[in-house]
Amino acid sequence: MAEVQKRVLNPEPQADDRLDLTLRPSRLSEFVGQDQVRQNLSILIDAARQRNEALEHVLFYGPPGLGKTTLAYVLAEEMGVNIKITAGPAIERAGDLASILSNLRANDMIFIDEIHRLGRAVEEVLYPAMEDFALDFVIGKGPSARSIRLKLPRFTVIGATTRLALITAPLRARFGAVYRLDYYDVSATKTIVNRAAGLLKVRAEEDGIVEIARRARGTPRVALRLLRRVRDYAQVRGNGVITRDIAIDALNLMEVDALGLDEVDRRVLRTIIEKYNGGPVGLDTISASISEEADTIMDVIEPYLLQLGFLDRTPRGRMATRRAYEYLGLPYNDMQQPALFNS
Ligand SMILES: Nc1ncnc2c1ncn2[C@@H]1O[C@H](COP(=O)(O)OP(=O)(O)OP(=O)(O)O)[C@@H](O)[C@H]1O
Ligand SMILES: [Mg+2]
Repeated sequence: MAEVQKRVLNPEPQADDRLDLTLRPSRLSEFVGQDQVRQNLSILIDAARQRNEALEHVLFYGPPGLGKTTLAYVLAEEMGVNIKITAGPAIERAGDLASILSNLRANDMIFIDEIHRLGRAVEEVLYPAMEDFALDFVIGKGPSARSIRLKLPRFTVIGATTRLALITAPLRARFGAVYRLDYYDVSATKTIVNRAAGLLKVRAEEDGIVEIARRARGTPRVALRLLRRVRDYAQVRGNGVITRDIAIDALNLMEVDALGLDEVDRRVLRTIIEKYNGGPVGLDTISASISEEADTIMDVIEPYLLQLGFLDRTPRGRMATRRAYEYLGLPYNDMQQPALFNS
């Protein structure tokens, strides 16, 4: 593999990632939940297979940990093609992308994670590549410069992003299929935890699994992480079996509450309520108050708080809702005044 390709493709997996790989469903039929997306993908796949064509370019978006990367691998597996893995920030120069693309074989896939972070020059190489399966080069300078076009085999781009709004319109328009992944309901999460427990050979009672699923904030990645930690707890403090009591004790010890909120989630809400009188307060101010990256708050923490109805995003900033006050057991004043007048 060329040097550029080594750098840009396939970073070394971490320990937990390796475990994830064994738990990752590899076929669409093993993929739990996201029924609408699954049905749409199944049609897309069948249609492409019947016509013996490369799959359409597909864009997945939604909060982290819901299965975007997993689905990219599933698509490659279902189509029986190679998939190259890279990410927006890893492709620094247009030449990096050109090099990856010119090494693709017919019907291959390229997965671009965090595709909203592609540089402008790189995107401009991607446009004709996705649309016309061609790379345009300019050779020479000044009046003698001319452009040559290199044909590429048909291939598929799978893009993933947590921030659809940051994708430029021309890039978005080049995806034939765009799917939003949503939080999983408790029943789907339970199935995922059950399957993982089976694969990891963890002994667990139904009630224990339910407890983990309920507190996993509708996110498979969180569910699997909680399962591992509860398994540790069951092994050290119990007899190795995940019972309901063991799960509750372990999750409480991790400060994951009944809705799946952890210390950081609660800190965000408390900050808005206690320091800023319920808001509105800007993201950067919250970020500075609790020393947490604004991106993390926006991508990981807020979407779930919004989903629970604990938070409102207004043009003037974030506001805690009455529900958030009630959940934290704090008095809610209907006549919330701007902090200025209260202090
Ligand atoms: N539907 C599912 N069924 C079973 N396991 C799943 C499912 N979706 C995701 N997982 C598991 O959850 C973990 C996280 O999934 P994945 O890495 O695909 O999320 P992602 O959306 O790409 O997240 P990010 O935005 O952070 O890249 C993986 O270990 C994967 O195996
Ligand atoms: Mg991913």
